Amino acid sequence: MRVIIKKDQNEVGLWTASYIADKIRRSDPTPNKPFVLGLPTGSSPIPVYRELARMCKAGELSFKNVITFNMDEYVGLDENHTESYHYFMFENLFRHIDIPREHINILNGNAPDLEAECADYEKRIVAAGGIDLFIGGIGPDGHIAFNEPGSSLTSRTRVKTLRYDTILANSRFFGGDMNKVPKLALTVGVGTVMDAREVLIIITGFNKARALREVVEGGVSHMWTASILQMHQRGIIACDEPATSELHLDTVKYFMDIENPDDKNRHF
Ligand code: GLP
Repeated sequence: MRVIIKKDQNEVGLWTASYIADKIRRSDPTPNKPFVLGLPTGSSPIPVYRELARMCKAGELSFKNVITFNMDEYVGLDENHTESYHYFMFENLFRHIDIPREHINILNGNAPDLEAECADYEKRIVAAGGIDLFIGGIGPDGHIAFNEPGSSLTSRTRVKTLRYDTILANSRFFGGDMNKVPKLALTVGVGTVMDAREVLIIITGFNKARALREVVEGGVSHMWTASILQMHQRGIIACDEPATSELHLDTVKYFMDIENPDDKNRHF
């Protein structure tokens, strides 16, 4: 696992956006061989999306041959509701870049048959050739997508009941009213994320410090579902200094040492 430590959320955003851009360009995507990108919502990826939009506007990057799959969506919120993940993605990324509408995949939380929608989503990922790079965020309890503590580490896309902590954390987007936060969501599974050829998780802010510690220094556990990243062959965490506050000094120094950009002979 690589752990990239940057000063603040903004620097993490710039680094992550340039990592994604580099991967897209190097894959030289075509209509027959698109680049498949998994995407999260939340406040953590906002600086990443801002920078990707800038690159696209400046003609430095194109999403014409990129296919996206979002991680999750609330059940029962209208797509045009300002807190739906559909709305979030169009506002923060899709309407600012040149991605064709038919390349965008987001779970439909209003589907008449939610289980069929989830099964179909897995099929669509396979049909697209699998996910090349899955970007994620985590909740303060270490959940990835909406895979709450106790979720199976081999889970697939499915309906999940949200736990109290997540509803409380996300109520800030619903005028602070927990009653307005949907209690169910559709989410890719931990196994779905792990199938991606590469996974990059953004962990920023002091309120994620405990989760970062569990994910990097703790054991693999279904109580901190993002800790499964330890089992991925190409897992990266991009975090800021406040998020590292609960890591051992040794851990921080180790990851900073091996990521030293001046060392041309480094191997990962
Ligand atoms: C929600 C989403 C997660 C996201 C998390 C963290 O629970 N389902 O995918 O990672 O929020 O959000 P934030 O980045 O705002 O802390």
